[in-house]
Amino acid sequence: MAELSLPFETRYFPVKKFLDMYQKSLEEPEEFWAEEARQLDWFRTWDKVLEWKPPFARWFVGGMLNASHICVDRHAKSWRRSKVAIYWEGEPGDSRVLSYSTLYREVNRCASVLRKCGIGKGDKVALYLPMIPELPIFMLACARIGAIHTVVFSGFGALALADRVNDIEAKLLVTADGGFRRGKIVPLKSIADEALTKCPSVEKVIVVKRAGVSVTMKSPKESWLDDLLEEAALFVEPEPVESNHPLYVLYTSGTTGKPKGVIHSTGGYLVHNCSAYRWVFNLQEESVYWCTADIGWVTGHSSIVYAPLAHGAATVIYEGAPDYPTIERWWDIIEKYGVTIFYTSPTAIRKFMGYGDEMLKKHDLSSLELLGSVGEPINPEAWLWFYRYVGGGSCPIVDTWGQTETGSALISPCPGIECVPLKPGSVTLPLPGVDADVVGEDGKPVPMEQRGFLVIKRPWPGMLLGIHGGPERYKKAYWSRFPGVYYTGDYAVRDEDGYFWILGRADEVLKVAGHRIGTAELEDVAISHPQIAEAAVVGKLHPVKGESIVIFARLEEGVTPSPDLKKDLAGHIRKALGPVAVPDEVYFVAKLPKTRSGTVMRRVLKAVANNTSLGDLTALEDESSVEEIIKAYQELKKGEVKKK
Ligand code: PRX
Repeated sequence: MAELSLPFETRYFPVKKFLDMYQKSLEEPEEFWAEEARQLDWFRTWDKVLEWKPPFARWFVGGMLNASHICVDRHAKSWRRSKVAIYWEGEPGDSRVLSYSTLYREVNRCASVLRKCGIGKGDKVALYLPMIPELPIFMLACARIGAIHTVVFSGFGALALADRVNDIEAKLLVTADGGFRRGKIVPLKSIADEALTKCPSVEKVIVVKRAGVSVTMKSPKESWLDDLLEEAALFVEPEPVESNHPLYVLYTSGTTGKPKGVIHSTGGYLVHNCSAYRWVFNLQEESVYWCTADIGWVTGHSSIVYAPLAHGAATVIYEGAPDYPTIERWWDIIEKYGVTIFYTSPTAIRKFMGYGDEMLKKHDLSSLELLGSVGEPINPEAWLWFYRYVGGGSCPIVDTWGQTETGSALISPCPGIECVPLKPGSVTLPLPGVDADVVGEDGKPVPMEQRGFLVIKRPWPGMLLGIHGGPERYKKAYWSRFPGVYYTGDYAVRDEDGYFWILGRADEVLKVAGHRIGTAELEDVAISHPQIAEAAVVGKLHPVKGESIVIFARLEEGVTPSPDLKKDLAGHIRKALGPVAVPDEVYFVAKLPKTRSGTVMRRVLKAVANNTSLGDLTALEDESSVEEIIKAYQELKKGEVKKK
């Protein structure tokens, strides 16, 4: 066997089983992944494990399968038919429990509804729904007939919804009358109405009754789901699709104003997802798995829907806010359903830390076996609090690194194989099959303990197929910075044991409470406000949310800055992009600092916002503008403004 240079030093820990598996996965990748793929149900076996025409990877070429068959039918036809598939908890306290046979029935009926609405293989369906069972049901119903779903986070506003629907050219939209959030009703149908005035591709709208609010059905193309279900068939044959048929497109933020539609395959995505969740979470059919993310993000797709259901586990779905109506809510849910695996975000952990640990003592959390963290770097203090108080000092924590583009986690401890010693704040080591490295500007690996860019040096099955409508954009975003390797956009460092530590984004993307928000997208919306001439958005370190949004804006000639205008701008952003994008701070300035070539120097703004050193300003065209920003910032910090 050829000597393989592992990305970590093995002498520090005795995890032979994990290391052997890792080594085999890199030495014989095709055999390795074929063995993993055989654990799923295929209608036809693939002809080729990997077709790699850089930078496009196609996995399990010629293999035929169906995601709905894998996640539902094979359980509904086994002893698991009466086993719980979904425990659903509504925010007002209502709940639903769906067995695999109930899920099977509902997925079939909704697939029949979609068919009757004229949806077929390859058609795009947008899902703008709250966290209710109909969301996974419709995802699986789409998959059943080979339609491609795009879930739009229900916290997004009308503009964000319209942009995504238009980019994908969705033929059908499924929404709800409303959803519950912190005791209030989010009027999804009226937000969708506003978006749909700009969405010519949508031929049909299905509305799920959830909140019981009155809505206007605008035209015959809009129907209540309940009415359509009356005519629905109870069985729809699952459509076999080729492994590289897209299962879904999910939009995420990049460095341009336009969100990217990340396309995921069916076969590669499911194989990777099933294996990753077995390795990382030891996910089994008897697991009660609760991921607190929203299904509108990739974590929700993989961790709430596809992985737990493919494994025949029970997945917990909670509709509302974490601490509503009280800070007991989450811990009640863990106790009520006997959650065994609990996966959440560092922001949520930090928020609960602030409430103290008394609330936890009132609950029996002894069902928990494993904890997970995802979406942003976790500080050791939060990690230790999570470990001690939520996990009672006996559950390993898997800090999982992944992206919308990666499909599943690529770097994480793998207790499902063999757990490496954990270090609070480190995502530890890459999963089997994942060839990760940290490189410098020149693309060469940096020495241990030195910061560099996180890259993945070979394709993996869960890798995105591309960007919807943009092969060039795909090449440019991920494969051009370091030719031949996938650029993640993250800074990372490896310690002396070879452990990876993720240091945050190296590009113009923010992570606010774990949500990925592009500064360019926000700036576009800010300048669409009639009184804003120019805007620059930067992130500011935030003790709970990780980062918060700060906007520096130059006003149109003759407009007077005022606190009301700030509120108005925040409202404008909320309406377009939703509450997640609302800035914490807005500063009106006379000039933005720019380089000689006219690029806004975000570094300067970031330093001002974070009150850190400004560094080298020699590239600035006009240093007075920096003075001005510092002055504006300092004046505002004295208390004049600040607020959403
Ligand atoms: O910066 C990294 C951060 O989240 C980014 C990906 O965001 P998104 O596409 O929304 O997917 C999030 C969840 C899969 C990454 O580029 N990130 C994700 N997980 C971690 C993380 N940063 C540090 N530690 C993590 N565990």
